[in-house]
Amino acid sequence: MKTYLVTGGAGFIGSNFVLYMLKKYDDVRIVNIDKLTYAGNLENLKDVENNPNHIFRQVDICDAEAVEALFEEFTIDYVVNFAAESHVDRSIKEPEIFAKTNVLGTVTLLNAAKKAWETENGWKEGVKYLQVSTDEVYGSLGETGYFMETTPLDPNSPYSSSKAGGDLMVKAYGETYKMPINITRCSNNYGPYQFPEKLIPLVINNCLNKKPLPIYGDGLNVRDWLYVEDHCKAIDMVIRNGRLGEVYNVGGHNERTNIHIVKTIIEYVHDNVDESVNETLMTFVEDRKGHDRRYGIDPTKIKDELGWYPETPYEEGIKLTIKWYLDNMDWMKNVTSGEYQNYYNKMYSNK
Ligand code: NAD
Ligand code: TYD
Repeated sequence: MKTYLVTGGAGFIGSNFVLYMLKKYDDVRIVNIDKLTYAGNLENLKDVENNPNHIFRQVDICDAEAVEALFEEFTIDYVVNFAAESHVDRSIKEPEIFAKTNVLGTVTLLNAAKKAWETENGWKEGVKYLQVSTDEVYGSLGETGYFMETTPLDPNSPYSSSKAGGDLMVKAYGETYKMPINITRCSNNYGPYQFPEKLIPLVINNCLNKKPLPIYGDGLNVRDWLYVEDHCKAIDMVIRNGRLGEVYNVGGHNERTNIHIVKTIIEYVHDNVDESVNETLMTFVEDRKGHDRRYGIDPTKIKDELGWYPETPYEEGIKLTIKWYLDNMDWMKNVTSGEYQNYYNKMYSNK
């Protein structure tokens, strides 16, 4: 039995990872910690509520005492750090919390893991710290080229800069103390349980409520979309077989403009849910400050070394995702009530 300390496991990708791992393995125990910010929802974890291999604790990764206490209570084999402030638009308005959670929180986790795992002669056998990062740390691409693991970090937003700061601290622990680490850098994920402030669930939610679909700038920015389960599979593979100290980029050559994404969602909702939903809902709004133009990942390394490939094509993934939101309207209602709704109204009141 291996014990994983998963952080941010009540958020979008973290909860998908917890569900994926507990479904796939009987010999995996997950200690799931999450601060439960606006983005963390225990409802995401209801399928594993009674699973004895899932232990949830409400803990802030910046709280060194609480994190260290977990390493004393449980024998942790792996740390998988998903916990982060993750939304670029919020980072433009409130950079401080991004620096705190994404940089200092990462250092707090690294320190606690080091304290528990470092031995007189090196490191405990078989342990690993995996940092879940993003392709956004590489900055923005022009019309051609891809991000490789060797691409220099050149982040632009407070979000991506704070993620790059976290990555560099993980790299530093790997280089300086020889801590067993990996970093994964993934492209944009989509799928069930994604908070509806991100493009795909926001557009689905607004389509279903016949609200305007805000498109930043000219809508021709490109993101490289990956179905969340394919990302979970990649993380599982990197923990098990990733070479220590290495970075792995995760992406599926699935580049789309934002307008393309919005149009596929409109079309699906029009054809399957409500004929009155159409492209007149598309609303061009002021561009995001410092909006990265294009992201595109070269996944050759993880394919060649670990045999990873994305199993879900966009056409299938987007249908699965829309269907999931249709089947889980209560979830949507619950997470968009209260604090988020106020934020959303404030964001768009002047657009
Ligand atoms: P999310 O915002 O949905 O979830 C983040 C989770 O972290 C939430 O449950 C939140 O409550 C928790 N959290 C925030 N601050 C915390 C703290 N101080 N202590 C403990 N928990 C805290 O984000 P996500 O989309 O699931 O992203 C997960 C990770 O993957 C992040 O590190 C993000 O940078 C990275 N990533 C995301 C994407 C994407 O497309 N969503 C792409 C690449 C990388
Ligand atoms: P987002 O989901 O916020 O992810 P990220 O900024 O991390 O890539 O945004 C994806 C793309 O969609 C990005 O180019 C910004 C754009 N976008 C819109 O055009 N309208 C929106 O309402 C949102 C949230 C994003």
